[in-house]
Amino acid sequence: MSDEGTVGEVDVTQALGMPLEDAMRTQRAVRRLHTDPVPDDLLLHLLELSLKAPTSSNSQDWSYVVVKDREQKARIGRLYRVLYRAFAPVVERAAARDPDVARQMAPGKWQAENFADIPVFVIPCYRHGLKHMAIGWPQISVSSYYGSVYPAVQNLLLACRAVGLGASIQTLPIWFVPGAKRILGLPWNVNPVCIVPIGWAKGRYGPTKRRPIEEVVHVDRYGNRPFLET
Ligand SMILES: Cc1cc2nc3c(=O)[nH]c(=O)nc-3n(C[C@H](O)[C@H](O)[C@H](O)COP(=O)(O)O)c2cc1C
Repeated sequence: MSDEGTVGEVDVTQALGMPLEDAMRTQRAVRRLHTDPVPDDLLLHLLELSLKAPTSSNSQDWSYVVVKDREQKARIGRLYRVLYRAFAPVVERAAARDPDVARQMAPGKWQAENFADIPVFVIPCYRHGLKHMAIGWPQISVSSYYGSVYPAVQNLLLACRAVGLGASIQTLPIWFVPGAKRILGLPWNVNPVCIVPIGWAKGRYGPTKRRPIEEVVHVDRYGNRPFLET
């Protein structure tokens, strides 16, 4: 990034000044990406901003593995395609019932087929300490484990949106965690949480469609939804 805060055509400082509400309303899973590289200094700046997120007990036991090497991308891509092929029939059945799922299928398939051409992947990982040894039990340790990663990931998605990069949270490509750990050379106590493919956006941003707030908010006890019109 130059001293003036620009990367190529992008005035990063100005772009990151996007009103928060606009960024939040339009950030969405952008899976179709150009193959042009994402400059390291821009990515580092966005990653640094993303780490302003909270972690459980301020542990900050996170690592970002940034994958740019074509061979490494191809290795993860091969792992992904095995999982994608196994999971595709489930998604196809859901797509037959739900046009929103059907709309997401084509860009997802495009990514699976073009994995090694995507400029960069960020794989947020978290080290598990004693309290997370048995991920899955007790429930509270699970929430503090994954809850220490996803706030940073959402920050990253919003920052990408502001500067014109497309990104999305994905878990399917690394569902076979031992395989992903082997490829990435992760120590036994560091786990990949998700994978974020990033590139200049080809697909469109939002507005996104979400359930109405009146339906989601329960007051005092689950089931009491006074904001819902009857
Ligand atoms: C925990 C989590 C896992 C996800 N895993 C995948 C995935 O494996 N593949 C994928 O294409 N999208 C994945 N997504 C993206 C969601 O499908 C997407 O955010 C959701 O459909 C909303 O899309 P929109 O923001 O474009 O409306 C995941 C999202 C989350 C939060």
